[in-house]
Amino acid sequence: MLQLEEFYASTDGNPLTDAFDKRIGHMPGASALPVPQEHMRIRWKALTQKERIGPSVMYLHVPFCANHCLFCGFYINKWDRTLSKTYTDALISELRLEADGKHAQSAPINAVYFGGGTPTALEADDLARIIREIRGLYPLAPDCEITIEGRIYHFDEEKITACLEAGANRFSIGVQSFDDKTRRRMGRKVSGERAVEFFHQLTSRNQAAVVCDLMLGLPYQDDQIWRRDLETVASLELDGVDLYALSVFPGTPLDLAVKKGACESAADLPRQAAMYGEGWKTLRELGWRQLSSSHWGASTRERNLYNRLIKSGAHTLAFGSGAGGTLNGQSYSLDRNLKTYYEKLADGQKPMARLTEVNKFAPVNNAIAAAIERMRVDLAKIEESHPAGDGYSKYIQPLLDNWRQVGLITSNNQAELTMAGCFWHSTLLMAMKTAFRSYLAKQAIAV
Ligand SMILES: C[S@@+](CC[C@H](N)C(=O)[O-])C[C@H]1O[C@@H](n2cnc3c(N)ncnc32)[C@H](O)[C@@H]1O
Ligand code: SF4
Repeated sequence: MLQLEEFYASTDGNPLTDAFDKRIGHMPGASALPVPQEHMRIRWKALTQKERIGPSVMYLHVPFCANHCLFCGFYINKWDRTLSKTYTDALISELRLEADGKHAQSAPINAVYFGGGTPTALEADDLARIIREIRGLYPLAPDCEITIEGRIYHFDEEKITACLEAGANRFSIGVQSFDDKTRRRMGRKVSGERAVEFFHQLTSRNQAAVVCDLMLGLPYQDDQIWRRDLETVASLELDGVDLYALSVFPGTPLDLAVKKGACESAADLPRQAAMYGEGWKTLRELGWRQLSSSHWGASTRERNLYNRLIKSGAHTLAFGSGAGGTLNGQSYSLDRNLKTYYEKLADGQKPMARLTEVNKFAPVNNAIAAAIERMRVDLAKIEESHPAGDGYSKYIQPLLDNWRQVGLITSNNQAELTMAGCFWHSTLLMAMKTAFRSYLAKQAIAV
């Protein structure tokens, strides 16, 4: 059984660089019990006949990329223009298949997110067709956030116009770094100069929130390059920015290239932490609002609604090969294999790959995730989420006292994450979730 002390932060040194010796990643839903394959169809059907109440989002996955960027763990299929129409037709048939369900129609959808892969690889007409179809079939809230995620390569004026005219109101563009050498070595295809020019094109439309993803800790991205990346972001008319600390996933091209000696190593954790600290201070000095540990808004147009809702356990209607969703406490994922994804749809079936049973403790896990997302360890909210929340918040107190003493959370009643707490947010989240399971085991409560 877990001892809380395992998640105590080191009281020696600087909390930003030295609190823990490793970062623990977060795998949502990994511990949930799967519904047996033979019951999945009927159980999915039952879910589509149930009302959906409360905050909800829609996620559409576009699992294609022009190339496999070295650092990335999201790559699935190689892109080729001829795939656009076939995939769009399939997505639209999936949207139509369940549009009449009670789960689809019973409540407004607050945010729609096209993620990938690379949604902006789709042709202009196809992007517009999908957005229009969603708006015609599903009950989008009047202020629904509609985000198109993508990269600059393949994304041109015609596609920008098509997305805006169809109703997209937010773009999230992965840049990672503006430095040419770093970009080239990581498999990014356009120059930093072209990236800057692209942002001018996009922001000058003044019709949608524009967000830029930067990564920190990439090989070749030294301190000077990082400073220039931050200065470039500050010089653009962006609505928001994400700062993501690089995780080197085993088996990615980056992991293999570093092991072979073909690529410089990524920054170690203390250096990543220092880079994060510099980014955090720079954005604060610029007056940007911190909306989560990795996301800042520069304008009131940026709401970050999708990320905020999904991390607080909102229902997620999922579409597209490889997408994942959650409905009334049950999580599901869709077939990652394109061939069988198409075959199941042609047979009139939702292309399910996995469905989980309801986890009765999900409200506590969601309250913990929402607290970390909002950068406040608000125990009152966790206690409200479930009767087991009350005992848990007493159980976890010594851990929070340690984090407070070290400087990961503030000593006021709100227990806000400090800059160091924000850098270590995924470790804090996993610690709190693991401690909850350990609390249940201690009380001999079955999960
Ligand atoms: C799902 S990816 C899609 C991005 C888009 N296709 C592109 O090429 O920029 C979304 C974001 O995740 C971040 N990301 C990808 N791999 C990562 C890694 N290994 N560690 C940290 N962040 C990563 C990048 O900042 C990226 O922009
Ligand atoms: S960063 Fe984007 S384009 Fe590159 S492999 Fe990952 S998802 Fe694909």
